[in-house]
Amino acid sequence: MTADDAQGVREMHERCSPESLRSRYFGPVPRLSDAVIRMFTNPERGITLVTHLAGEPGSVVAMTNLMDLGSGESEVALLVEDRWQGRGLGRVLMRCAVALAPSRRARVITASVYAANTRMLAILEGAGAEKPSMTGLILDVRLPLDSSDVSAGASGGPCR
Ligand SMILES: CC(C)(COP(=O)(O)OP(=O)(O)OC[C@H]1O[C@@H](n2cnc3c(N)ncnc32)[C@H](O)[C@@H]1OP(=O)(O)O)[C@@H](O)C(=O)NCCC(=O)NCCS
Repeated sequence: MTADDAQGVREMHERCSPESLRSRYFGPVPRLSDAVIRMFTNPERGITLVTHLAGEPGSVVAMTNLMDLGSGESEVALLVEDRWQGRGLGRVLMRCAVALAPSRRARVITASVYAANTRMLAILEGAGAEKPSMTGLILDVRLPLDSSDVSAGASGGPCR
């Protein structure tokens, strides 16, 4: 994501249901502030991917954040626009995040997920995440990366 994607990303957020936004941000997000856009586009903080319709860069349908936490950890968060959910996009985007994590020197990907968010939990489990040890409304999930993930990251990664 670059600053040029900001409008498309904001419009995508406006098309998302309150439930999807709550699942992503754990609270109401009326509009992405300039500060948040700057954080998403700051290469020193992490990587943000935007997914758009082929040949239509302004038609954003998903956003993937992989933000550095330090100490070899990066936090992943996905948002797929409602009408594009349930078609396998989230699972592909998680593969992209796993492939990119070594380029951020991450050995572990973490995610905060509502315990009721079965789709996201299925994606994380499918990618090899550990079963969360704690229970509660929001689960902190850890996905340790192995050496094959590291080589996938070095080669650009299987993002398609
Ligand atoms: C969570 C989210 C990223 C998943 O992306 P997606 O493109 O909808 O997910 P996929 O189509 O790749 O499906 C992922 C898994 O959920 C399952 N799934 C699909 N529809 C489902 C449904 N209605 N209920 C439960 N599980 C469902 C799929 O079967 C798939 O598992 P499988 O491959 O083992 O069959 C997306 O729904 C989203 O953006 N939700 C709102 C924001 C959010 O929750 N972000 C996560 C917090 S970080």
